[in-house]
Amino acid sequence: MSHLQLLLCKFMLSKSPLDLSKVKKGELNKEILRIGMIAELDAINLYEQLAAMTEDLNIKEVLLDIAREEKTHFGEFQILLLQKDEEQTKELEEGRKEVEERAK
Ligand SMILES: [Fe+2]
Repeated sequence: MSHLQLLLCKFMLSKSPLDLSKVKKGELNKEILRIGMIAELDAINLYEQLAAMTEDLNIKEVLLDIAREEKTHFGEFQILLLQKDEEQTKELEEGRKEVEERAK
């Protein structure tokens, strides 16, 4: 995917209206948190891509600093989701075990 395509994807994601009308009430906050996580991951990729594109070291440093902040934002949403989604917490641990098992 080109840098321009990445920028267009970022633009489209932020502009797309989200249809949460059919989401069950108990699931709404979990969906909101997952959407937040998607947006933060997208932002991390975008800022790291932009940092890789520029030769201006000041701009590069600011972009990478912002990318790090987006990782914090992702972590905030993730922690909130894990507090609300027991299954996700359990499956996170399952995923960790599977990866560690494969590394042996
Ligand atoms: Fe953010």
